Amino acid sequence: MTEVTQLPHTDVSVFSTISQFRQRVIPVGLRRAVVLTMGALHEGHQALMRAATANGDVDLAVSIFVNPLQFNNVTDLDTYPKSLESDLRLCAQSGVQAVFVPSVYEMYPHGAQAEPKVTAGPLGDILEGESRPKHFDGVLTVVNKLINILEPDVMYFGEKDYQQLLLIKRMVAAFDLPVEIVGVPTVRDSDGLAKSSRNVRLSAQARAHATHLYASLLLAKHAWQEGTSSTQVEHLMREYLSTQKDIDVDYVAVRNEDLQKPQVTESARALVAAHIGGVRLIDNLDLGKGGL
Ligand code: PAF
Repeated sequence: MTEVTQLPHTDVSVFSTISQFRQRVIPVGLRRAVVLTMGALHEGHQALMRAATANGDVDLAVSIFVNPLQFNNVTDLDTYPKSLESDLRLCAQSGVQAVFVPSVYEMYPHGAQAEPKVTAGPLGDILEGESRPKHFDGVLTVVNKLINILEPDVMYFGEKDYQQLLLIKRMVAAFDLPVEIVGVPTVRDSDGLAKSSRNVRLSAQARAHATHLYASLLLAKHAWQEGTSSTQVEHLMREYLSTQKDIDVDYVAVRNEDLQKPQVTESARALVAAHIGGVRLIDNLDLGKGGL
């Protein structure tokens, strides 16, 4: 790819180098909004772009970069879905002015593993971090780099990756980065399955079974609001999922907004990760206050 390309019949510029992106002229007075992605864009990403443009004029930039640092499984990295052409079309339809599509070399010239990294700390070791060691170090490192490169005033992240969203907020606060982080509610299919780039890898059968993840979260919400303890709610979720075909549960958890064990009257969130037909999916749901 050349360093800057103009998408035909649109105002969208596509940048592949950091220096070219930094040289672009931004109209004075516009807030710079950014949505970070790994491509394979879907309605969840569109919701982030809509949230970015909803509050008036912004300069909206999107990055598309499959970050090798956050994958601890080579097959997962190799099979991560890619659809650059349709991604760029979707950006053009969603009010995006600039798309940053760097190569791995552009982002990690000395090799991803050889570069200094951000460490997520204890919150990065639980739940997703327990199943995917160092995953969040990789996420925070690339998000930190992209904040420095794209210089956003505001960034939008999906609540589907709740632990990621929390860790990004913590990193921004810890390093005093001058950017506002906004969480956007999860977009779901009509049967409740959360939109995810990985859904395209589900067979028809696995897709049908995947809806049980959302069902387990609804079950958790009902039980939590009835005053059931978090341990018992987790047990109910695990029991429900274990009776469904093809679902291999990685974890279920009921936590407060800081991802610690909640008091029974606190607001809580249920989180689930499972392999369904060989595809690992995650989801979570705000359960509201307990014991109502
Ligand atoms: O959520 C994602 O798609 C990725 O983790 C992110 C934030 C783009 C970093 O690579």
